[in-house]
Amino acid sequence: MPTVTFLPGYRKVTVPEGATLLDAARAAGLSMNVVCGGEGKCGKCQVYVKDGTVSFDREKYRRFFSEEEIARGVCLACRAYVVGDVQVEVPAGSLIEEQKILVEIPGMQEIPLNPAVRKYEVRLEPPSLEDTTPDLGRLLEGIERQGGPPPNRVYAPLGVLCSLPQVLRRSGWHVTATVALVPGGYRLSSVDEGDTTGRLYGAAVDLGTTTIVAYIRSLVDGRILATASNYNRQISCGEDILSRVNFSRRSGLARLQQLAAESINEALTTAADAAGIDREEILEVMIAGNTVMTHLLLGIDPAYMIAEPYIPVVRRMLSTAAGRIGIAAHTNAGVYTFPAVSNFIGGDIIADILAAGMAEREEATLMVDIGTNFEAVLGNSDWMLSCAGAAGPALEGGEVLFGMRANPGAIERVRIDPDTLAPSVSTINGLRPRGICGSGLIDLLAELFRACVIDRTGGINLELDHPRIRKGQYYPEYVVAWKEETSIGKEIVITENDIKSLIMSKAAIHAACMTLLDAAGLAPGDISRVCFSGAFGNYLNKENAVTIGLIPEIPPECIENIGNGAITGANIALVDRRRRKELDGLARRITYIELNADPSFMDRYTSSCFLPHTDIALFPHVQ
Ligand code: FES
Repeated sequence: MPTVTFLPGYRKVTVPEGATLLDAARAAGLSMNVVCGGEGKCGKCQVYVKDGTVSFDREKYRRFFSEEEIARGVCLACRAYVVGDVQVEVPAGSLIEEQKILVEIPGMQEIPLNPAVRKYEVRLEPPSLEDTTPDLGRLLEGIERQGGPPPNRVYAPLGVLCSLPQVLRRSGWHVTATVALVPGGYRLSSVDEGDTTGRLYGAAVDLGTTTIVAYIRSLVDGRILATASNYNRQISCGEDILSRVNFSRRSGLARLQQLAAESINEALTTAADAAGIDREEILEVMIAGNTVMTHLLLGIDPAYMIAEPYIPVVRRMLSTAAGRIGIAAHTNAGVYTFPAVSNFIGGDIIADILAAGMAEREEATLMVDIGTNFEAVLGNSDWMLSCAGAAGPALEGGEVLFGMRANPGAIERVRIDPDTLAPSVSTINGLRPRGICGSGLIDLLAELFRACVIDRTGGINLELDHPRIRKGQYYPEYVVAWKEETSIGKEIVITENDIKSLIMSKAAIHAACMTLLDAAGLAPGDISRVCFSGAFGNYLNKENAVTIGLIPEIPPECIENIGNGAITGANIALVDRRRRKELDGLARRITYIELNADPSFMDRYTSSCFLPHTDIALFPHVQ
């Protein structure tokens, strides 16, 4: 079998002839940027062939490369096939690196503490010939005496029973029992020697398609002890949900289940180490993830969710023991997953709703969570409507020539001087620019529009006589950074084609918001606030979002970024059992509107494919 050597680092793997360089990279443990899931559409998986040859149709993918890159032997790893030994250089930009992951959430410490898991310190009389009560019964009576639930409502797993006699006798009949409230009663999760009531920990987890965030907090006093984040290791099986489900169909579900658990464990281990606790001391885990991620974590087949009639196996909140799904916590720790409304409005959105406090307010809130897909929810304490759709990868930097994720070196802020048309940019970590991430693209679109470099259709005005505005190799383009200013040895431009992709993405989101408003019989002015959830929304310039017509026009002061709503919601449900109990009811109350089945959605979308909209009266404050 041919050997593929990856530079720098000289990682070698042997792969069958006909494997792609992306397959080889995965086998070598490299996490490549595969925004389109290996479909040859995003151009982000570029590598250079240094020695040997591969089978690659360079003409077909020419649009991704400059002449200089072609001369150096560039190709797309996902579309280049191994035909013999080959040496390949992987540029840093083609690898996934540390992304801005939203971890810190202001105000998080203020959630009221009412956990579903409690500890009881119990001192017991040893058994005697006069008192032959079995060990378990003796313990449960002791728990009840300490204010715990009645013995007949407590279920004891076999694992706890097997170690119980030794624990009781070794401790001199002085133990601490952990009891969790579970559907239908209580579970005896663990019995420890002595008094451990001061040590009771829980974990809240945001199980994202791309990233994982974990919080560890004390369930004794509610303090956040540590947070951690990392990538979802399932990325090696495809970047988006569809490619993961297809991977599970092709290669089996077990690998994706294992990778989900490993990804969570990596975050839990980092956070537990930072908190100075043993992972075994984590006795409750609350996980917010979208519907597919939740299915995959629990080992439930999501295959029927991606084909008509699009059916998930389950929508309600589920609980299982950590040991059953390989989560690195106490083996009997309860692992809870958020309920879902539909395939597309999953547990992460229910967590967003919790974080935004939508169900507690009388005024209507519009909440939008934007990624490659977007979800929107409109409502208040009485009613809620939701919808979801594909925004396309443009807003996350995919399918935009110099688009990239929010990694170091990404341009995240742009201003354009209306007189000189010169941009001033700021990048993540202040590095020399490598590309443009979502918030930078929104800024760019709004600033180009304000400076009249682009018209309302997104067309670049080539009549402006300016060195930054030019015809470009394939499309008209605007130079955002000159070659000597960047770290990639070439200019960073935004093309008219990129701008059109961005406009289509924003149009889908705007049209979805208007569909919800129309269904509720409301106008934009009737909304008291718009909440953006997720990393994209958090770094977004609110005024620019309105200027381009990403959302209906409402005053910028009514727009809130709620940060990572999924992890905030998971924290709320972790520490407050009352709120957790309401989740299934909340999910059932939300009406899902299928945009594809709404005949007026397409008209709204078409009308939104302008800056800010065909009907400028909808945006009276946009100049
Ligand atoms: Fe290769 Fe997108 S992953 S082009």
